[in-house]
Amino acid sequence: MSDALPEGHRLRIYSDKTALMDAAADYFTVRLGESPSGSRVALAGGRTPFPVYERLSAPTLRNRVPWKRVRFVLTDERCVPVTDEESNFRMANEALFAPLGVPTDRLIRIPGEDSPEKAAEKTHKLLLAWAQRVPLFDLVVLGLGNDGHVASLFPADAWLDFGVRLAVATAHPSGQPRVSLTPQALRSTRCTMFLVSGADKAEAVRDALHAPEASPRHPARMVSMGSTLWLLDREAAYLLPEAWRTEGEDAAEAAADS
Ligand code: 6PG
Repeated sequence: MSDALPEGHRLRIYSDKTALMDAAADYFTVRLGESPSGSRVALAGGRTPFPVYERLSAPTLRNRVPWKRVRFVLTDERCVPVTDEESNFRMANEALFAPLGVPTDRLIRIPGEDSPEKAAEKTHKLLLAWAQRVPLFDLVVLGLGNDGHVASLFPADAWLDFGVRLAVATAHPSGQPRVSLTPQALRSTRCTMFLVSGADKAEAVRDALHAPEASPRHPARMVSMGSTLWLLDREAAYLLPEAWRTEGEDAAEAAADS
């Protein structure tokens, strides 16, 4: 196991989940507030980011970002109807898109109601249009499963060579069909932010950060090759070497560094 943080990766560790969510929202506003030409963001699904998205759309923060110049896509989707509580779009729409009034022409919605293959093909084609400008994204936000998956790339999938595909059909180990942006798409970004909370993620955080570069058994290292900021609470970080623990002060300073 390497004892140095992977090159390009930085950590900010916060005392608890509330402080982590506050810092992540601040980081967003600094990263996206600075882009006069507009930004493209890939947003994590799951439960962790919901409070961050709520903070961003709240009156206190919403005016810090030129939202009318931000385009969005989710990093992955469960193949369920958009009304299903499992839907990542439903989560992000409730917390962010609807409160901000994001129009459909600034959103790539992965059509989870379609078959996984059809939804992946539609998403791939829409992302290809974005790929006229590289990198594809200005910011990619990712969570981390306690099995080490990111987006809907599960450790077994990470072996797969998706070639030039930007979105593919995958499946959760439970069998739930998914669509995920590929490592190739997720790597094409100015910066990556991992947002991880809770002791149940601590082993996955430790293993990802100790894994070799681009390790196929660790999707987190397949999708982040450049400037990567890990925003963690103490519970998620407790298995990391003491020497790595930069107590999370001002996330804006972290954003300015990345
Ligand atoms: C998904 C997510 C996934 C998520 C992790 C962590 O659709 O499940 O995109 O990659 O980020 O599973 O999920 P929690 O934030 O709910 O712990």
